[in-house]
Amino acid sequence: MNASSPSPAQNQASTATLYGGVTNRRVTVRDLATAKQRGEKWSMLTAYDALTAGVFDEAGIPVLLVGDSAGNCHLGYETTVPVTMDQMVMLSAAVVRGTKRSMIVADLPFGSYQESPAQAMHNAARLMKEAGVGAVKLEGGERSARSIELLVEAGVPVMAHIGLTPQSVHALGGYPVQGRGDEAAHQLLRDAKAVQQAGAFAVVLEAVPAELAAQVTEQLAIPTVGIGGGPDTDAQVLVWTDMAGMTAGRVPKFVKQYANLRAVLGDAARAFAEDVRGGAFPAEEHSFH
Ligand code: KIV
Repeated sequence: MNASSPSPAQNQASTATLYGGVTNRRVTVRDLATAKQRGEKWSMLTAYDALTAGVFDEAGIPVLLVGDSAGNCHLGYETTVPVTMDQMVMLSAAVVRGTKRSMIVADLPFGSYQESPAQAMHNAARLMKEAGVGAVKLEGGERSARSIELLVEAGVPVMAHIGLTPQSVHALGGYPVQGRGDEAAHQLLRDAKAVQQAGAFAVVLEAVPAELAAQVTEQLAIPTVGIGGGPDTDAQVLVWTDMAGMTAGRVPKFVKQYANLRAVLGDAARAFAEDVRGGAFPAEEHSFH
């Protein structure tokens, strides 16, 4: 088989649905493009370790994002800013090892691509070669277009991320909704078109008015992935710890919580501690003789 003759599994790209579709290979950028053409909406979750990623892979989630949200959701930092390339490589490699079918996208963390397209290429190559991810994500619209172009030319699939860009938390003074008002809305549209023109295969729209996200989705040929972008984007992403109720305290307005794992896990830990204190664990069936 040569590069111009796709395998039978690759050929299934145009017909199979993303959810519950082809399972004998990983989801590809072509699958996502054809999903947009047939109007199939899809889901993306973050993942930071092999165990959790394996659960989501088995559940049929087509795309997993090793987000730099690992900083505040997994590594105990307050923001995504301190996350390093070495940490992203380690977490991404674990997610790749724990999965068979999901496309794995890894974030380029703050400071790993803003200096130059060459720096972006160097670090994207690390994520692909050392961790084995299928694509990278980076923040910024027009300002990141040159880097996206170079990566795509070099064969790196790039997911862009515009609207609220959490790596700019200190410049933004928090996590405000973006794209409100005419000028900001026009800038968001320009950003979306710039990343599409540069070759991105999809774009995350974070914390933007639903009407604007719908307009961007209609005007772009590539899939839009919403997080706080209302119901009309082509795909939706949530941070898994928010989605499953692991996050302590308040979660953003756009989060729907599908479980309360923090309570379940806390109850299990308390029951274990009680059993140990009272001598109920280990029982006879847990003991060797
Ligand atoms: O890092 C992350 O989890 C993200 C999502 C919020 C899209 O970028």
